[in-house]
Amino acid sequence: MERFEKVFLCAAALVLVAFLGALGYSSLAMGIHLPSHFGMIHYTADQKLRKVLRKTPPFDHPGVHQVAPGKYQVVVIGLTWSFLPDLIELPLGADVTFVATSMDVIHGFFIAGTRVNMMLIPGQVSEFNYRFRKPGEYLLICHEYCGRLHQTMSAKVVVK
Ligand code: CUA
Repeated sequence: MERFEKVFLCAAALVLVAFLGALGYSSLAMGIHLPSHFGMIHYTADQKLRKVLRKTPPFDHPGVHQVAPGKYQVVVIGLTWSFLPDLIELPLGADVTFVATSMDVIHGFFIAGTRVNMMLIPGQVSEFNYRFRKPGEYLLICHEYCGRLHQTMSAKVVVK
């Protein structure tokens, strides 16, 4: 084998090991995972999802809920073409868990300027944990095409 072949093979192997190491460290030690569905909402074909959600906790009470000192749960429902609630007010630095779902079709859930980014899938519950470190107004938008007025689907997050 050529000397250069050996060098490049070794370098490639080292890069692979470094990437696998970073992947393992971030998922095992830092607990970073892909945003995914944490639960399902059970309903049958003849039940309207809208009616089921109205009776299914936590979606029977959309909004901001303080669950412990400095800890908040924000329950959001996405529907064509808005978010419920459309105004979310949070204290700066709080430990916030967004719990969201869709009432009709697939929507996106992205808060501009943050890494809060989820898919809202009918019948599935999406969760995302975040801490706002800068006060201000943030725009929550749907970033998944969901029909004629998709571009108008937004809400406001106010952090102070
Ligand atoms: Cu909802 Cu696009």
